[in-house]
Amino acid sequence: MSSKTTVSIIKADLGSLAGHHVVPEPLLAIARKELKKAQEEGLINSYYVFNAGDDLQLLMVHQKGEGNPEIHKLAWETFQKAAEKSRALKLYAAGQDILKTAFSGNVRGMGPGVAEMEFEERPSDPIVVFAMDKTEPGAFNYPLFRIFADPFNTAGLVIDPSMIGGFKFEVLDVIEHKKVVLKCPEEMYELVALIGSPGRYVVSHVWKASDDMVCAATSTTRLSLIAGKYVGKDDPVCIVRAQHGLPALGEVLAPFMHSYFVEGWMRGSHWGPLMPVGLKDSRCTVFDGPPRVVALGFQVSDGKIAQDDDGNPMISDIFEDVAFEMARKEAVEYAAVLRRMGEFEPARLGPESMEYTTLPKVLEKLKDKFKKVD
Ligand code: F6R
Ligand code: MG
Ligand code: MG
Repeated sequence: MSSKTTVSIIKADLGSLAGHHVVPEPLLAIARKELKKAQEEGLINSYYVFNAGDDLQLLMVHQKGEGNPEIHKLAWETFQKAAEKSRALKLYAAGQDILKTAFSGNVRGMGPGVAEMEFEERPSDPIVVFAMDKTEPGAFNYPLFRIFADPFNTAGLVIDPSMIGGFKFEVLDVIEHKKVVLKCPEEMYELVALIGSPGRYVVSHVWKASDDMVCAATSTTRLSLIAGKYVGKDDPVCIVRAQHGLPALGEVLAPFMHSYFVEGWMRGSHWGPLMPVGLKDSRCTVFDGPPRVVALGFQVSDGKIAQDDDGNPMISDIFEDVAFEMARKEAVEYAAVLRRMGEFEPARLGPESMEYTTLPKVLEKLKDKFKKVD
């Protein structure tokens, strides 16, 4: 047992009620039961179960470190049980993210998405966990850049003496399986050159440059690559630490004041406006979206999520706030603009990023009809 605290968020799509839009209550109940048992047995110290659209999210706080086989096995077995229930209920796409049948010690690369962060607790440690549905891990590139590198977003980069040393970003090339660390502000242009292509270059970690304190971690697996073919965009999760020499909570949230565009939405094949929502609106409806993001705020305290007098974890459902109504309205308006374009780019993604395509079949069918142009 480490003196350090680990926040793990592990998620999977195990089937939805009526299409791909929401995790129904019986699956959430199974997850709560399994994690309660693990808490009673002392494997984890705290948990919170929620959904981001059709993804079941297990938030766990423990002292076992990142990539711990026992924690990952707990998540895997919980997902197996939820998938079993999903199949029994004949939910739609039951067991979608359970791609392999045998557990091998770590859920990374098996279908479920995972973001984890181990750290020495500060005297007070505010955390935000973000979870998105109907998009992909690179969807966090834009807000992470704004939060940790953009002085027009984060005042502290300019006026807090403890932040002026900047932040380091780890960027994964998910196609060639390489990674690079870039320091801002010095390497800001190189960083933007890469992460402006979120389908390929994905921010996986952010550290404070002056002391290497970990500040953000995202999930970076791509289901398409795991399965060897496109089987679904990997709806991402992200953990961010805030305050006291890091971006304030309000600076962490400021990028979400406006909607922005992400890859995913219907059939994982369209650009869509991201919509920040409270947990009650965490279900993807129109054109299977628009893509949504929820944000949960909490404190870690002595290896646990700080809890109330009844022992319940205290969680703030941040995007429920009225301040995000403008972004929600923008998202609906942008959604309408894009949908007016139907299957014409840029509403539809380029052929290399589409999760569904008929193009090879269309070309095959028409191959004899095509005539050479002189
Ligand atoms: C996107 C997503 C949905 C489905 C769509 C078609 O990530 O999950 O948009 O792609 O509902 O689903 P099927 O092919 O299962 O009917
Ligand atoms: Mg689904
Ligand atoms: Mg999903």
